[in-house]
Amino acid sequence: MLFYYLTALVLAGLGWLDARYLTLVHYQQAILVCARYTIFVDCGKVLQSPYSAMFGIPLAVIGLINYSLLLLAISASFLTRKKLFSYWLVIQTAGAFLASVYFMYLQIFVIGSLCLYCTGSALISLLLFLIVLVSQKPAVLDVVGMIYQLVIKPVFFWFDAELVHETVINLGQILGRVWLVKSILVFFMKSNRPALHQTLAGISFTGPVGLAAGFDYQAKLTRLLPNLGFGFQTVGTITNRPYGGNPPPRLGRLPKSKSLLVNKGFKNPGASATISRLTNEEFAIPVGISLGRTNSRRLVTQRLSVNDITEAFEKFEHSGLRHAYYELNISCPNLLGKVEFYSTRHLTQLLTALRSQKISRPVFVKMPIEKTDRQFLAMLQIISRFSFMKGVIIGNLQKDRRDPAFDQEEIKRAGRGNFSGKPTWKRSNELIKLTYQAYKRRFVIVGCGGVFSAQDAYEKIKLGASLVQLITGMIYQGPQLIAQINLGLEERLRQDGFRSIQEAIGTA
Ligand SMILES: Cc1cc2nc3c(=O)[nH]c(=O)nc-3n(C[C@H](O)[C@H](O)[C@H](O)COP(=O)(O)O)c2cc1C
Repeated sequence: MLFYYLTALVLAGLGWLDARYLTLVHYQQAILVCARYTIFVDCGKVLQSPYSAMFGIPLAVIGLINYSLLLLAISASFLTRKKLFSYWLVIQTAGAFLASVYFMYLQIFVIGSLCLYCTGSALISLLLFLIVLVSQKPAVLDVVGMIYQLVIKPVFFWFDAELVHETVINLGQILGRVWLVKSILVFFMKSNRPALHQTLAGISFTGPVGLAAGFDYQAKLTRLLPNLGFGFQTVGTITNRPYGGNPPPRLGRLPKSKSLLVNKGFKNPGASATISRLTNEEFAIPVGISLGRTNSRRLVTQRLSVNDITEAFEKFEHSGLRHAYYELNISCPNLLGKVEFYSTRHLTQLLTALRSQKISRPVFVKMPIEKTDRQFLAMLQIISRFSFMKGVIIGNLQKDRRDPAFDQEEIKRAGRGNFSGKPTWKRSNELIKLTYQAYKRRFVIVGCGGVFSAQDAYEKIKLGASLVQLITGMIYQGPQLIAQINLGLEERLRQDGFRSIQEAIGTA
């Protein structure tokens, strides 16, 4: 760190001397040392051009103020280590870098001459920006989050939620193929943090934050997400047969409640199309496939529904894909027909059918959160009897519109569907605690629901979760959230004297 601060101070000092010289020359009308050095290098021509001042203030003076402020911010940041000065450095060096790119463009393409002093200053701005990017990563992530929340999210929220979702996924699929984008993301978002490594159900996780089912239901983001700091990802929910989705609107926003209204009903391309898309893909992080019952009125009986689900499992088992785990989604609240797997008899029927398939990968059950403690424990008891059921994800969407996290006006206006985000937070936590108290480490508990920060993720871990999943937090806070959670978790573990996540699980 000391090296970065010293280098930044030296560079800002050189920039200050450069700008001071140009300011003196400007006010004393002196002749520049480099004037008319060659045809292309002509400082005088540049500094006497109409572009050498902004709002009547010479750029040399603006440069002098810029470097003076930077010297102040670098020193203050070094001495106090306060985040405020880190934000200041990130924003100012980014601004100075962008401005110097514009000034270089003016010199080369508009004025047709270069000023050596201005070029030197542009080089210094570039180096300072790079040093700040490397040395102030947490502040860079915070600034990205601010830009997302102040600029990008309001633009997204103007448009239809499902349209934005589709567009972002398609863009993500393209970006996932661009090496440069991935490298930049890796630099800022991904880091190797041994305290966050875990091996659970035979799967090695390098980070505890995963993407929950429902965001990448077309399996398009498997190349991009590892670069954002995700430790694992669930694709789906996928069903045996494709489904075009419930009648729109399928997705809505409740910003005051920090929630999304979901009425997709397992919109997905189906098992076979998903397998085709993922064939030959190498996964950089563990990828799970969430499987559920095809949303069709024709599956009128339990037996037909069980057959449909087992058929989907069979397709993936014989697919040759390199996925790491399955999620068994028995808790989607938006399905057609009256079939359910909550009762002990129906759940036993389903799990017995799956056991006979000798599934080769661990299965995690996606649990409902609207059940009472008794009903929930009864389900867990059944699940615990099946050894291939390695974990439970707690949990799915909120059906209960009386949850106190809802803004009353928003919830009154909400249409058909169920809710993600903060209205799932409290109940999900209660059920994580209940499960951990009853079963300790028998299940890998994946905490899911309302994770919007590192503190939220940490609370779920301390209640008993080994991993967390999210969707809504990322939509409200920005894609840098995952890196921020990883960073914040490591910090909290250290502060509380834990060497790893494993030591913190269930300590609340
Ligand atoms: C747009 C959307 C679609 C979802 N679709 C599914 C799904 O297909 N399968 C599933 O198991 N959960 C689905 N969920 C529920 C999430 O996986 C998660 O359980 C829930 O949103 C709570 O997490 P969050 O507050 O971080 O979003 C969906 C959630 C959202 C927001």
